[in-house]
Amino acid sequence: MSIDFKGRVAIVTGAGGGLGKQHALALAARGAKVLVNDLGGDVHGVGGSVSAAQAVVDEIRAAGGEAMANGASVTDFEAVKAMVQQAVDAWGRVDILVNNAGILRDKSFAKMELADFKLVMDVHVMGAVHCTKAVWPLMQAQNYGRIVMTTSSSGLYGNFGQANYGAAKMALAGLMQTLSIEGEKHHIRVNCLAPTAATRMTEGLMPQAVLDLLKPEAVTPALLALCADDAPNRAIACAGAGTFERAYITLTQGVHLGLAPDTPEQVVAQWDEVSQRDEGEQVPASGAAQGTNEVGQAMRAQRD
Ligand code: NAI
Repeated sequence: MSIDFKGRVAIVTGAGGGLGKQHALALAARGAKVLVNDLGGDVHGVGGSVSAAQAVVDEIRAAGGEAMANGASVTDFEAVKAMVQQAVDAWGRVDILVNNAGILRDKSFAKMELADFKLVMDVHVMGAVHCTKAVWPLMQAQNYGRIVMTTSSSGLYGNFGQANYGAAKMALAGLMQTLSIEGEKHHIRVNCLAPTAATRMTEGLMPQAVLDLLKPEAVTPALLALCADDAPNRAIACAGAGTFERAYITLTQGVHLGLAPDTPEQVVAQWDEVSQRDEGEQVPASGAAQGTNEVGQAMRAQRD
């Protein structure tokens, strides 16, 4: 089965360099018309110019593809709405949205300024919310959509010095969990991608021999899979150095300790049973699963 995007219109944010550029080139190479967005600032989100996006557009056009540049900041909802309108005016629809734009403001939490926390949340979380909000009614009306949120191992598992970034990236997983449920009946599939790649974002973090393995292009096949007609829904795909994994947010079966209001000693005493994963751990289909498990165990305890 070959994946092609002929007739599809894609918006890739933050696609002037790094991972977004590779995503945009690959979508275009397989037939998508691509709106290449990039603010063109530095890795901390300072400055801006549409030239980064335009260079990628030039590369796509030189290879025979169709593309347009856009220099909006994803933090500006009016500019994001105009960006989506730009795609619709030129190509009539938007099928694929890749929320990829991002910045870093790393510091240990003790030293982190709240302004740096808020800015990182604004770019990653509200940036993705703005873009998704702007395409959502179009995707609902056309009964088709593919949306990818770029999350991170820093959010899923934590990373020293990245409290702001980790919180923002995990928020995107939460956004994906609900939108994938709400979008399902309109065939809008929403997934997350957790990449590992040598880009300006990871400069200085890893030795050169490791960086050489982490080409951004090695992540892009996972992105294309999440944008395809046959994409999964509600997945967290992980990719780096040509290895592809999947992350899950799970719920253990746990232990029913009784309805007595004060049982902290029992919780501590049975922490191993609460935590055990061998039996009954599930990947909930929605948040309701937790309550269902808890009430189910309480009812069974009352019956027995
Ligand atoms: P990058 O810095 O090369 O790319 C990010 C792009 O987003 C830049 O071109 C930048 O100009 C653009 N951008 C920043 N703020 C923007 C805004 N407000 N509006 C529009 N564009 C904006 O870094 P990289 O590594 O390619 O990152 C791409 C995505 O992947 C980011 O969301 C990042 O957090 C995520 N990521 C990257 C990892 C890695 O190992 N490189 C690991 C996990 C996640």
